[in-house]
Amino acid sequence: MKIPLVDLKKQYDSIRDEIDSAISQVINKSAFILGEEVSSFEENFAKFCQAKYAVGTSSGTSALQLALTCLGVSKGDEVITTPFTFIATTESVLELGAKPVFVDIEKDTYNLDVNRVEKSITKKTKAIIPVHLYGHPVDLDALIDIAKKYKIAIIEDACQAHGALYKGRKVGSIGDVGCFSFYPGKNLGCYGDGGILVTNDEEIYKKALLFRDHGKSDKYTHIIHGYNFRLDAIQAAVLKVKLKYLDGWNNKRRKNAEIYNNRLSGLRTVIKPIEKDYAKHIYHLYVISIKERDKLKSFLKENDVDSGIHYPIPLHKQPVYAGMKLCDKSLPVSDKCSESVISLPMYAELNESQIEKIYSLIKRFQESR
Ligand SMILES: Cc1ncc(COP(=O)(O)O)c(C=O)c1O
Repeated sequence: MKIPLVDLKKQYDSIRDEIDSAISQVINKSAFILGEEVSSFEENFAKFCQAKYAVGTSSGTSALQLALTCLGVSKGDEVITTPFTFIATTESVLELGAKPVFVDIEKDTYNLDVNRVEKSITKKTKAIIPVHLYGHPVDLDALIDIAKKYKIAIIEDACQAHGALYKGRKVGSIGDVGCFSFYPGKNLGCYGDGGILVTNDEEIYKKALLFRDHGKSDKYTHIIHGYNFRLDAIQAAVLKVKLKYLDGWNNKRRKNAEIYNNRLSGLRTVIKPIEKDYAKHIYHLYVISIKERDKLKSFLKENDVDSGIHYPIPLHKQPVYAGMKLCDKSLPVSDKCSESVISLPMYAELNESQIEKIYSLIKRFQESR
C-alpha cells in the first residue's frame, strides 16, 4: 500500500458527518459571505491562539499582505525575513513595493537565526517576518527585544504552526500580528483556500476588517482603498468543525514524530528534527536531513512512499528574484539545507507500521551507500 505525504481523505472519513452537515447548513441558509459563520470561527480561533482578535482571510498569502498593509509597510521600506520558506512570505512584501531583506537560518531548526538579525537593520526596516517553519517556533524573545529597540513590527508567519507553543504561549499571538494559512494540507486546513490574521492590537484589528472587505465602512461607503480578502462562510464552517480536533491531531503528529525519532536514532546518516527547550513543535512537516537526498527521494518513490522537499531553492536563488538584486550576501546555511532536507509522510492518521516501513527503507538506503 502506497504511503502518501499527507492523507486528507482519511481525516475527512473520520469527521464526515459533522463536515457534511456544517457545509449543508451554510448552503441551506445561503449565507455565503462573512456573517455569523465567519465571525464565530474567528472568535473560536482567536481564543485558540490566546489572542484578542482574529480576521479571516482568503488565504495565508492575503493574511500576510493584510498584516503588512495594516502596519503601513509601503514602497521603499525593508522587511527582514528568512530565505528558507515558501515564496508567499515575500510575495506580499514585494506586492506593496517594499524589499525583503534575507537573513540566514539556524542549521538545527531551519528557522531565521535571530542572532544575525540586528546587523541587517537599517533606517528603512519597517518589519520582521519570522516564519515558524515546519511547525517549530522561532526564538521570539530575542527578536522582540530587537524590534522594541528599533521600533519595528513583528509579523509572525505561522502558516505552518497552528497550535505550536513558544515558552507556553501560542505562536501567532506573540508578535504584533500573526498570519495563518488554511491550505488543505496544513494542520488546520479547509476545503479550498483560506487564512486568518490574529492580533491583540485593536487598531490593527479594525484596519484589517476594513482592508479585507473593500475598505468599506458600510455597504457602499468606501473610506480606504481596500481588497477582497474575505474568508468564505463554507470554509469557516469546515474550519469550525476541524478546530475542535486540532489539539488531538497535533498530539498524534507529535507521537508519530517520537516514533520516527526513536527508530531513526540508530541511523548515523540521518539528522532528525529537533525540538528546542522553549518550543512545542506541532510537526506540520517531519523533516530530516541526509546526504544524497534526491536519491533517497527516488528510492522511497520506487517503494511506494511519497516524500516532499521544503524547499529545494531558497528564495534568494529563485529565478523570479534573479534580476531584483535582493541579496548581495551569501546565505550558506540556507543553501546547504536546501540540498539535504526531505519531508517524510506526517499526519495524525499515519500509523506505527507505516512509519516502520519508511524507517526500514531509509535503513536499506543507508546500507546501500
Ligand atoms: C510559510 C508559509 N507562508 C505563507 C503561506 C501562504 O499560505 P496560502 O497558501 O494559504 O496563501 C504558506 C503556505 O503554504 C506557508 O507555508
